[in-house]
Amino acid sequence: MSSGNAFNETHAHRGDQPIDMAELRRYRQGAGAPAAELESAVGQARRVTLSWSDGRSGQFPLMWLRDHCACDQCRHPMTRERLYKLLDDPLWERFEGDEALASLEFDARSLTLVWQDGHVSRFDAGWLYQRCPGEELATLLPTPTPWRAGFAPEHVEHADFVGDSEGRSRWVSALLRDGLVMLDRGPCELEEVSRIAESIGPMRSTNFGGRFDVRSVPNPNNAAYTAIGLELHTDLPNWRQPPDIQLLYCLENDAEGGESSFADGFAAAEILRAEKPDAFRVLSETPIDFRFQDDGHDIAVREPVIDLDAEGRPREIRFNNWIRDTLSLPLDRIEAWYDAYRAFWQILRRPEGRVELTLAPGQMVAFDNRRVLHGRNAFDPNTGKRHLQGTYLDLDMLQSHLRVLSR
Ligand code: OGA
Ligand code: ZN
Ligand code: ZN
Repeated sequence: MSSGNAFNETHAHRGDQPIDMAELRRYRQGAGAPAAELESAVGQARRVTLSWSDGRSGQFPLMWLRDHCACDQCRHPMTRERLYKLLDDPLWERFEGDEALASLEFDARSLTLVWQDGHVSRFDAGWLYQRCPGEELATLLPTPTPWRAGFAPEHVEHADFVGDSEGRSRWVSALLRDGLVMLDRGPCELEEVSRIAESIGPMRSTNFGGRFDVRSVPNPNNAAYTAIGLELHTDLPNWRQPPDIQLLYCLENDAEGGESSFADGFAAAEILRAEKPDAFRVLSETPIDFRFQDDGHDIAVREPVIDLDAEGRPREIRFNNWIRDTLSLPLDRIEAWYDAYRAFWQILRRPEGRVELTLAPGQMVAFDNRRVLHGRNAFDPNTGKRHLQGTYLDLDMLQSHLRVLSR
């Protein structure tokens, strides 16, 4: 990857190597890494105060510095994982009396601490700069952004996705930001969706397998495997952890109908909160039952339609009208729940919030299944063939992929 080389070249010509902090993310020079030099380091009262040439300064508790030593005894040199156990270190008793540190040295690029027991810890100044207490370590990941009226998804060419890390980064970034992204003009080959998924992470298996075929079949166990229209929905809300990311790769789409639509569930939830706060409260505070059953399965969960995080922001939407189970609520809450559900459904259907498109053979859509709802119009299997292949991925793998691409 070109970014990795840029990192090394910068340092080769500066003539100083970064101190190995058992950290693969960049911490000196280049995109997202600091260029500032260390100007002063003062150890005092259980802390070391550092200042850098760009004016940043910060205090680092000695405990924190000892815990983050990256020498071969404190971090495994191959796995980079922590070996050091603070509970077993007698030095820990001496932080209280300000007696833990024997000496401190620094230069523009590094800080060296010698502890009272003789252990030596060396820190890269850029690594410390990034981790200055009170400063947020930039995430490298784009912030999820609600769709506005007229939103259109980003398109990436299949050739750019497979051919260079820039196209791949653009595709992953758009998916994390918008919850929806298109991949255009790929090959019409069976299993291309599996190859794409596996270049990012292992496919997430469900009761429909690791990779599934979406087409109309004679004995369907699921609405998707018929030719009927699918109202906007999220997949598998009957699981405790529904799949995060869905990939749908179009191989054939000649039948009349079958157009796709998408809506941002988080944006719709915010509209509901603003327009009908009581309905929002009902949907976010009332767990209901979701359930799928076939000959071999009965997978059920009780969760709210709109799940909120600790700050009250939507974290997950569960909306799938055909696998919503019996509504089992106290009598005095049933009518209010139906009113709230209808209000949310109406908002989801608003044309200004929807993306509509017809998948072309060789085109793949990817979306965040816990945020963005998807649907399709009915199609007529007598007028032509329609065949999609799909799979799921964990969000962890997608985020990991972008962090690796940005090294
Ligand atoms: C699905 C689904 C959409 C389509 O398989 O979960 O919603 O376009 N398919 O067939
Ligand atoms: Zn160490
Ligand atoms: Zn679906």
